[in-house]
Amino acid sequence: MLPFDQFLEAWNQPAMRHAMVGHFPIVLSVIGLPFVILAALWGRRVTSLRWIAVATYLLLVISAYVTRNAGDAAHDAIRGSLSDEAHELLEEHEDLGDNVWLLALIPTVLLGLSFVPKPKVRHPAAWLAVIGALVTAARIAETADHGGRLVYEHAAGTPDQWALMFPGGESDAQPTDDARLTFFRNQVRPILAEYCWGCHNPKRYKRAGGLDQTSIAALLRGGMSGQPAVVPGRPSESLMIQKLRHDDEEERMPPGDDPLPEDLIGTLERWIAEGAVWEPPQLSNTPPDS
Ligand code: HEC
Repeated sequence: MLPFDQFLEAWNQPAMRHAMVGHFPIVLSVIGLPFVILAALWGRRVTSLRWIAVATYLLLVISAYVTRNAGDAAHDAIRGSLSDEAHELLEEHEDLGDNVWLLALIPTVLLGLSFVPKPKVRHPAAWLAVIGALVTAARIAETADHGGRLVYEHAAGTPDQWALMFPGGESDAQPTDDARLTFFRNQVRPILAEYCWGCHNPKRYKRAGGLDQTSIAALLRGGMSGQPAVVPGRPSESLMIQKLRHDDEEERMPPGDDPLPEDLIGTLERWIAEGAVWEPPQLSNTPPDS
């Protein structure tokens, strides 16, 4: 394969794209900081210092923005396939990284203001930019630390992720040979994604009866009621089915909407009756060749 094709293939996977672009903000925040300080000290005489500082921070803003968006997409791709501990770390990582690009925009604008000829504007702007750059660098360092731990301690977003999560067991099973996995992948997962995951996901589940539905572990654990949402082999005892068929409109899922069509409820019932087999999401866009 041509190197460029390889590059494109990696780029098209959100987790890879996130990793590739995500190192730019780290490097740029380290390279940029001395230039911002030097620009505050000697920027008036050596204007190239200010130009270098502005250019570095502009690149930082852009790369941080791309990194965040790729990270969101990567999260969607691996949703439901992380341990609770890894998930918590990922939530923190997302919270930290969400606004890095905006944070980096502050020193960038201040550096821009330091070009204003009036000393009354130029001086404070240049020194405030130093503070902004320090805060940005600290935030990036903390975000990167979380990201590094996710990858190296939890294999998040890497092909080893399944093996780590399901040692020996499910990752060895040939997903393509098991009709129940195909059924889950083609029939069940799309229903959950379309009708349930909007609320019952790791970010919002606290406001949705405390029930996350993006992993089988969370479904078995259940929500506020303390009852498992899914009891494998027993659809009628599964709160999920009871909530879908509830007579009371206030109680019925999805709330404030028409009831789920009966054939879709039937699909979920069959899935539970057959053991509620769950497949972690594919990490790459290409089907695994085996
Ligand atoms: C618009 C947001 C929203 C959507 C979409 C939604 N739910 Fe809910 N769900 C909630 C809220 C809020 C609660 C808590 C209130 C309640 O139990 O009625 C809840 C509670 C539940 C519970 C009970 C959890 C517990 O242990 O108390 C189950 C089971 C459930 N939902 C299943 C589903 C299923 C299955 C779908 C998809 C067909 C779905 N929900 C779609 C908001 C939503």
